[in-house]
Amino acid sequence: MKRIPRRGFLQAGAFAAGSLVAAKEVMLDPSPMGGGAPQAVAPSDRVRFGMIGIGMQGSGLLGASIQLPGIECVGAADLYDGRHLLARQITGKADLPVSRRYHDLLERKDIDCIVAAVPDHWHKRVVVDACNAGKDIYCEKPMSHAAEQGFEMVEAAQRNDRIVQIGSQRVSSALCARAREMYHSGAIGEVENVELSLGRNDPTGAWIYPPPFDASPQTIDWETWLNDAPKIPFDKYKFARWRCFREYGTGVGGDLMVHLISGMMFTLGWNEAPRSAQALGGIFRWKDGRNMPDIHTVLFDYHGIPVYVRLGLGTETPELARFMGPKGILDAGEFELTYSPQAGVDTAPSYYAGGFPREMREQYEREWHEKHDPKLGHEPMTESTVYHGHDWDDVSPHLWNFFQAVKSRKPVTEDAVFGNHAAIACHMANQSYFRSKPVYWDEASKTIKS
Ligand SMILES: NC(=O)c1ccc[n+]([C@@H]2O[C@H](COP(=O)([O-])OP(=O)(O)OC[C@H]3O[C@@H](n4cnc5c(N)ncnc54)[C@H](O)[C@@H]3O)[C@@H](O)[C@H]2O)c1
Repeated sequence: MKRIPRRGFLQAGAFAAGSLVAAKEVMLDPSPMGGGAPQAVAPSDRVRFGMIGIGMQGSGLLGASIQLPGIECVGAADLYDGRHLLARQITGKADLPVSRRYHDLLERKDIDCIVAAVPDHWHKRVVVDACNAGKDIYCEKPMSHAAEQGFEMVEAAQRNDRIVQIGSQRVSSALCARAREMYHSGAIGEVENVELSLGRNDPTGAWIYPPPFDASPQTIDWETWLNDAPKIPFDKYKFARWRCFREYGTGVGGDLMVHLISGMMFTLGWNEAPRSAQALGGIFRWKDGRNMPDIHTVLFDYHGIPVYVRLGLGTETPELARFMGPKGILDAGEFELTYSPQAGVDTAPSYYAGGFPREMREQYEREWHEKHDPKLGHEPMTESTVYHGHDWDDVSPHLWNFFQAVKSRKPVTEDAVFGNHAAIACHMANQSYFRSKPVYWDEASKTIKS
């Protein structure tokens, strides 16, 4: 999930686009659309979308979408009336059609596509309904709330020939593209091991959000909001802090890890569910009635490659995806990608020779240097390169990729099949935590087994 942007350094003009600045600092193209955006768009080429869910993420998506050339919001739906006003404020259209019923948008012939940012327990229904109504849809991550839902969503997209883009936006970033390019050019050799980690240490990071002042059964259609979750009386805290509860959300797995997993899959060119997952965790810090863990560690098996994940809401640590291979490391942080090559050879005589008698050790060291010392000018390159970019999680390129596909009918970067695979990893991490057992993915039955 996107947090406070730290873009100051980008504006500081310290780097020129596409140029090598310091010895090993490279600035990637800062344009959200990679320079491919047209400046003026004919009315016939405009894309008209309806927005479903204008909360924390939806308000950002709406604002970012209408900045894109030729993209227009022509209606919005939310179960909370305060967000009808917000949609009008963001779009600057005092008469923007708004509704509590998202079907009002799906029924409109003048709407080309939908952007949806509703809580996780609503994703399946919104995507299936949109596809069945003939609308393309950008839906937030994680794609599903439970593993079986993803397959219904894939089926709805394919049967209706609809474009579905899932919102793990980093897969459309310049940094992710560079990471993928470097990996496939052999920069680190065949990946042997991956580490993914992220930690937070503040109430907002732990999803303790302030409910809107006027939240009530009068301003929010609570019955509908609950969807298939157990019926409970109106609870403004659950409305705002739904991520803490498995009935509506998917915990740190679906909220945070899905971004790391999607970025990993894209970088490495993987598109599959993990074979197995083994999780450990608990509620250590935020004992506020939540039922989702605030510490969650997972070990996945991706066709034999170990992928270790550490997520926590108790200690802040930088977001990092580390790809390791015999030729070095690719470290993908929030705003940069660092490539640290490794020669994978001894650069000095083996310290094991410390256990040889003196004459033998001296002979070994002399012979070693004669044989291995690099010739002048042929020393191995081991200096790191840091690529700076417009952050992994910038949504504009990902939205742009979707809106372009709505027009061109070309595939999107993160279609329903990809989104489903990434979401399954989250569900496996959660299932392993709740069952207190390792789980594996059973491809034949398409279920998580333990
Ligand atoms: N890609 C990212 O970086 C990122 C960041 C934050 C959130 N998200 C995702 O975005 C989604 C929304 O999260 P949020 O934090 O904005 O939640 P939120 O609770 O702030 O907003 C969700 C809105 O959806 C509305 N809603 C719920 N069901 C609806 C329905 N059936 N019809 C119309 N409106 C409905 C709610 O009333 C609410 O206003 C989640 O899936 C979350 O995981 C993604």
